[in-house]
Amino acid sequence: MNTIMLSDTPRGVRAAVGILRQGGTVAFPTETVYGLGGDATNDQAVARIFAAKGRPSFNPLIVHVSDLAQAEAITEMSSEARALGAAFWPGPLTLVLPRRAASDLSELATAGLPTVAIRVPDHDLARRLLGEFGGPLAAPSANLSGRVSATRPEHVMDGLDGRISGVFDAGPTRVGLESTILAFDGDIPVLLRPGGLPVEAIAEALGRPVDTRAARHITAPGQLASHYAPRARLRLEASGPGPDEVWLGFGPVSVLRPGLNLSPSGDLMEAAANLFAHLRAADALATETGVRRIAVASVPRTGLGLAINDRLERAAAPRPEDYAAAL
Ligand code: TXA
Ligand code: MG
Repeated sequence: MNTIMLSDTPRGVRAAVGILRQGGTVAFPTETVYGLGGDATNDQAVARIFAAKGRPSFNPLIVHVSDLAQAEAITEMSSEARALGAAFWPGPLTLVLPRRAASDLSELATAGLPTVAIRVPDHDLARRLLGEFGGPLAAPSANLSGRVSATRPEHVMDGLDGRISGVFDAGPTRVGLESTILAFDGDIPVLLRPGGLPVEAIAEALGRPVDTRAARHITAPGQLASHYAPRARLRLEASGPGPDEVWLGFGPVSVLRPGLNLSPSGDLMEAAANLFAHLRAADALATETGVRRIAVASVPRTGLGLAINDRLERAAAPRPEDYAAAL
């Protein structure tokens, strides 16, 4: 398949809508990362998304809609869910909610679950695309399954060139981390994935704490713990690079080894926006300089730091080949 570059123009959006209506796949920017979009009501379009990413089909996709009203048409929103939607949409919050029986979402998009992960992205182009398409778009992050999410069109092309119909040439994304995913266990708000909206902001809006235990528990073997992984290995909480390592710093530390810094001033927003691009660049630098490890400075665990640490820990987690080697 020839992957076409689409421009951020009315013409580009019309072309994308044409592709989507025919069940094709288009990568588009959101405020978090690029998403690989397809018609969420079309099984074939959704199957194409799974195939392009090499994603296991038991892993459901996030459904993107243009506003709260469209979310209400697809899901059953409790008053708390509605309040969160009103407070944070458009924005980097995904809510996992019961799916309405009458919704015509593809069963494949939700992997047959009775719930849907849904959000309204805060990106002008994404909103114009959703508006003109007129229906929900299923869109996981636009990267090969298990790899680092794409925050720039060239990162999308790195993994998916020839595997998708089109990609918008629309520059870097603002937040740089995927959305925060929140579910309700009965009545209790549960964090499933820390992300671009700090969990503290959600707790404050709800006026009660959010259960974060599920999101912290990532080490069960085989549970897709390894994710967001570059080729090189990662060593976390490093105070500096060893002789066989590339450095990925945070804050004002100077080191002589080749490396990069997520934010020299120690700003978590800047570090979040840089994270995936810097992981890719550090990986390339490791290959270039013939080393096999990236040493990563410690990053505080508050605000966006929770999500940054989550992605770093997954990137550093044992990989399937490690289990094989241990046998
Ligand atoms: O920022 C984002 O969330 C980006 C942009 C493109 O919107 N999307 C994204 O999608 O990160 P993806 O597919 O890479 O991650 C979605 C996560 C997966 O871990 C999936 O298991 C979970 O959401 N998920 C989807 N539906 C779910 C459901 N019904 N219940 C629990 N988890 C669900
Ligand atoms: Mg992803």
